[in-house]
Amino acid sequence: MTPVPVAVLVSGGGTNLQALLDALRDSPVARVTRVVASRADAGALERARRAGGSLATVVLARPDDPGEVVAATGDARLVVLAGYLKRIPAAAVARLRWRVINIHPALLPAFGGPGMYGRRVHDAVLASGAALSGATVHYVDEEYDRGPIIAQWPVPVRPDDTADTLAARVLQVEHRLLPRVVEALARLGVPEKPVRLVAAGSAFVVADQPSVRFGDDP
Ligand code: GRF
Repeated sequence: MTPVPVAVLVSGGGTNLQALLDALRDSPVARVTRVVASRADAGALERARRAGGSLATVVLARPDDPGEVVAATGDARLVVLAGYLKRIPAAAVARLRWRVINIHPALLPAFGGPGMYGRRVHDAVLASGAALSGATVHYVDEEYDRGPIIAQWPVPVRPDDTADTLAARVLQVEHRLLPRVVEALARLGVPEKPVRLVAAGSAFVVADQPSVRFGDDP
């Protein structure tokens, strides 16, 4: 099987990109082939350069130009937004329907939408008094953080959490969830309609050892 080519869109430091690069380096199922940044100073670009190989890197001149965004994804079958802070223009969403996914650091549909990114998400979770947060991977459609949910992984909120400690706990789970979702979708051939991936066994956290498995993931 030829690995499914994956484009990763980034704006920030790129720890999720790194998790994908590491997890998929030798995967027969999926491979990061392109990294597309909305800004030239995104730290993620450095990670892409360090990964070397045949990885293409692109900096978008106009992230609001649908033609440029679609062209930048090249021959990727799957497009992953990993800390990408620009809106995907509607015409690009339409062209790439059900092939663009995003990771969000909370349990959508709560704590999402315009302006809900980074620390603000975790501040809002803490202010709400919720006992659970987590990571969500969902399809990108025309509305921020509203496309169909593919998979979620819960994380406990502790009474002494700050936005930083909660963010760090969620991020660890993001790094495990995102590669699993990408591989699961690739194994399914990147279906042309939304799929929901259901955790094998309990998705709840036991003794700080969260474990979510999809399909035949060991
Ligand atoms: C992650 O928390 C992700 O959920 C959100 O942006 C952050 C990106 O972090 N969409 P990184 O750049 O992958 O380190």
